[in-house]
Amino acid sequence: MSVVSTLLHGSVAVVTIDNPPVNATSQAVRAGLLAAVADIEADPGIASVVLRCTGRTFVAGADVREFDKPPQPPHLPDVIAAIEAASRPWVAAIHGSALGGGLELAMGCHARIAARDARLGLPEVTLGLIPGAGGTVRLPRLVAADAALAMIAGGKPVTAARALEIGLLDDVADGDLTDAAIALATGLEAPRRTLDRPVRDPSDADAFSAQVKRFKTRAGGQLSIRHAVEAVENTLVTDAAAALAAERQTFLDLKDSEQAAALRHVFFAERATLSDPRCKQTPRPVDRIGVVGGGTMGAGIAAACLLKGLSVTMVERDTEAAETGRARVAETLAGSLARGLLTSDARDAALSRFQAATDYSELAGEDLVIEAVFEDMQVKKQVFARLDEVCAPDAVIATNTSYLDVDELAATLRDPSRAIGLHFFSPAHVMKLLEIVLPERVADDVVATGAALARKLGKIGVLAGVCDGFIGNRIMSAYRREADYLLEDGATPSEVDAAMTGFGFAMGVFAMQDLAGLDIAWAMRKRRAATRDPSERYVAIADRLCQAGRFGRKTGAGWYDYVDGKARSAPTVTEIIASERRRAGITPRPFDPEEIMQRLLAAMQSEGQNVLDEGIARNACDIDVTMINGYGFPRWRGGPMWMRDRG
Ligand code: COA
Repeated sequence: MSVVSTLLHGSVAVVTIDNPPVNATSQAVRAGLLAAVADIEADPGIASVVLRCTGRTFVAGADVREFDKPPQPPHLPDVIAAIEAASRPWVAAIHGSALGGGLELAMGCHARIAARDARLGLPEVTLGLIPGAGGTVRLPRLVAADAALAMIAGGKPVTAARALEIGLLDDVADGDLTDAAIALATGLEAPRRTLDRPVRDPSDADAFSAQVKRFKTRAGGQLSIRHAVEAVENTLVTDAAAALAAERQTFLDLKDSEQAAALRHVFFAERATLSDPRCKQTPRPVDRIGVVGGGTMGAGIAAACLLKGLSVTMVERDTEAAETGRARVAETLAGSLARGLLTSDARDAALSRFQAATDYSELAGEDLVIEAVFEDMQVKKQVFARLDEVCAPDAVIATNTSYLDVDELAATLRDPSRAIGLHFFSPAHVMKLLEIVLPERVADDVVATGAALARKLGKIGVLAGVCDGFIGNRIMSAYRREADYLLEDGATPSEVDAAMTGFGFAMGVFAMQDLAGLDIAWAMRKRRAATRDPSERYVAIADRLCQAGRFGRKTGAGWYDYVDGKARSAPTVTEIIASERRRAGITPRPFDPEEIMQRLLAAMQSEGQNVLDEGIARNACDIDVTMINGYGFPRWRGGPMWMRDRG
């Protein structure tokens, strides 16, 4: 069976691509399409053409695996040019996703129709590239330059409704897509070539300049975003042939860049985190979720579940706390509504699947219950004991602890094999990462259930073993410790933070602590003081800050002073640091950003290696995925372990 086949429906030729899993434009597809164009051109009986795909999606882009190899002819730009130059009109019929080369192919067709739930996008920037087959030249001819820039430099797909609104689609089909596409093709007389259209100027020139500036700032060190912006700017002032040539050259250069290699690594690493055989077992159901605790974390977890269509019962200790929890959930959903992430009907439906209660017996019918109460072993053990009494015997019982011993908690259940750790990151309805922590006696299908929940919630699940801090917090503790050493050795908090943001982190480690609050980590350090190895270097600067009541933003002062919400360097902190240096007998010396980052990275990598050696992480890829999606490590650098292995 060929990956590209043609069937006649009267005078309409229906060309079908069948290249699972995502109909990527592999060499065979490109060659098949070129042959189809030639056959159709040679057949005078054909009046028009529909291009469609089988399986889950329209063409979802180039085959990312081919990017590591030299390009094989025929090249996609030539295939698209042949379609565009055809003498009969071609209509793209889009279901699922038309992404990257897939959307470029559709834009080379003379009209486009999509199923209502389809998505269209040019995500190349997320792979360290720009479109390489005319995307930056054709899109600004179909949609206004501002909408084109948003798609090309932002990399996020748009819905079919939005694509219709901006002019990328000619129609949206509610019934059978192929039938609708055949009807559309039948009505077309002559091909209307995208490249023959003039570019569409931005709807508001000032807003467009501001948008360009925003993307350039957002790019930071990521080259692809910067080049994407420049490609669109170039299209607006150059003829199509020159713009196509420039785009292709930039694409080829970027394809071989270190950043693109890093982003490809992350692309595949993120899709491989749940490849463990246990994740392929039949999971237990995860439609009805119980959450114990209505604080920030509990409410965030509840909202994350509700937003993905699950039902949630939240239990709090009294009516007042349950009410507060309910209000938090409603507020989170209202925020998603305000950002256009769900409709008011969907919000109402989500709230109708939610109940806040005070009686644990309300959890009797839930499939999986997650405790998200205070980080204290005794408190959590009491919750687990109650859950053991009320939950159905095959319900999964999960803890959202971020560092406590999940084995110890599991052992309190009559059937420890049903316990698992589900470490969400705050805000839980936004953050992509879910650490699935596996106690020693966990049942295989409970592992599969954790994985199934991650998938349902649209999160990237990473399997982690039990240790203090699992993968992420453990590595973060190590580089936080190193950041403290740097302070004592001579760097300032703002120098460390600036080195990190310069490297590509959204925020430095000290600004982050101020945001999260310094008191919880302080309480933990005090609890652990008795078991600390006295021979290990200990920096007490953070403790001194806390003793001075500086708990971060919430107290208006932490590593920085906050005036009208803006961080300023704090003389008190400078004094505390100086006195701690004196106490430790250290003569401070200056640090440049490279040395600061070298030390922080080395700390991450060495703790990453420990995590691997102890079997806490399955492989180095999982560590990279964790640090990128949970801790703000810049994606385009590929992760700490990738950087170490690339040398
Ligand atoms: N090239 C090669 N393989 C690809 C691919 C691509 N462009 N896109 C997806 N795949 C593979 C995945 O690695 C996965 O392989 P596996 O089953 O061996 O793990 C499989 O296709 C399914 O992908 P997955 O993402 O798990 O499926 P999904 O149904 O959740 O999502 C898409 C489908 C198309 C939305 C999603 O795969 C996607 O966004 N792909 C990337 C598209 C892209 O960036 N294209 C631009 C390239 S320049």
